[in-house]
Amino acid sequence: MTMDGLKPLAAAALERCDRLARLSEHPLPRLTRTFLSPPMREVHRLLREWMTAAGMSVRVDGIGNVIGRYEGAVPGAPALLIGSHLDTVPDAGRFDGVLGVMLGIAAVEAMAGRRLPFAIEVVGFSEEEGARFGTPYLGSLGFVGRLSPELLALRDANGASVEHAARSFGVDPSSLRFDASRYVAYLEAHVEQGPVLESRGAPLGVVSAIVGQSRRRVRFVGRAGHAGTTPMNLRRDALAAAAEWVVRGVEGCAGWRGGVATVGRMTPSSGASNVIVGEVAASVDVRHEADETRERMVTEILDAGQTIAARRDVVFEVADAAAASDHRTVAMDARLVGRLRAAAGGDDVPLLASGAGHDAAILAPLIPACLLFVRSPGGVSHHPDEHVYAADVERALAAMVRFVESLASDPLV
Ligand code: GLV
Ligand code: MN
Ligand code: MN
Repeated sequence: MTMDGLKPLAAAALERCDRLARLSEHPLPRLTRTFLSPPMREVHRLLREWMTAAGMSVRVDGIGNVIGRYEGAVPGAPALLIGSHLDTVPDAGRFDGVLGVMLGIAAVEAMAGRRLPFAIEVVGFSEEEGARFGTPYLGSLGFVGRLSPELLALRDANGASVEHAARSFGVDPSSLRFDASRYVAYLEAHVEQGPVLESRGAPLGVVSAIVGQSRRRVRFVGRAGHAGTTPMNLRRDALAAAAEWVVRGVEGCAGWRGGVATVGRMTPSSGASNVIVGEVAASVDVRHEADETRERMVTEILDAGQTIAARRDVVFEVADAAAASDHRTVAMDARLVGRLRAAAGGDDVPLLASGAGHDAAILAPLIPACLLFVRSPGGVSHHPDEHVYAADVERALAAMVRFVESLASDPLV
């Protein structure tokens, strides 16, 4: 199909991103759609409609991933998996995650009924952001059969577990199975979410590796008290301890040899102006390309929490076990990286590491995986102003179609 033929398909993908941005837990225009929350039902309905129209059979798996299958020349052949995630952060942009799913459907539409030596499965993962349960990748971990009992038992702010959320949505996590031999490769397209491609004047980029991350939920427990009667030196102010930790323990560590660390959530118990805060719940997100350095950063940050809290007679608790919420840096498949760069324009296409997490990080240890980035104007993401240029989305679709064709004519060995 020519670039002109792909234009309307890319435009439809963008319209679908707009349509999905209207499905939110919060009043519009605020877009928030966390793991299997009520608006996800309508997302599923629309996906089913679009995938069916594109000639796919559709199923929903045991963790709420939506999977459309476009058969190959031989029914039942292994599939090229194309996808990304359907959930969002609170107050999100319209493209983080869903753009990759919509481009997957558009790539199947571009086949226009032509059958390939492999099937194509387009997957919309139910969860990647970690917004509801404090840990990311629930959808892709479920897809590959790696949702541990600890992850299924994690609870959201209302006390509902991952397992309960899945079962209430009508899916059964115990049914999840994965057979890597059923897949030839994984391709994900995603907005870059940063300024690098723009700074290089490049519409597309290809990812070399996805940086590892650790997330923890912590609590500072002091004692609530009267703001007017309790002298400063007799307070056990949990918020003061948490604030000192953010600045000295976390920010003080953040520049540490190229790492980043973020306290994205901090909830004080009181919320009244005349009450000393007795308890603070907070999150911390730590990332570094070198896994050992990330681990050292986590230790340093949590040790700082202990030290700062103890000096203020406040208790510091860490809720999450490391195993449940740590993800190592994952390299993309070198052969696919080369092909994707060729499909996206050749040696001038920037190769970059991703500081953001992506579902490709979970697929990559099991099947050859690659990740295409689409330029983010202004580098803006995890923000309602996130956007993309229509011409870049057309180029991304063209690159994906060329990539599919390269796999069809020259399979990976
Ligand atoms: C996902 O967007 C993440 O990297 O936090
Ligand atoms: Mn994303
Ligand atoms: Mn995101």
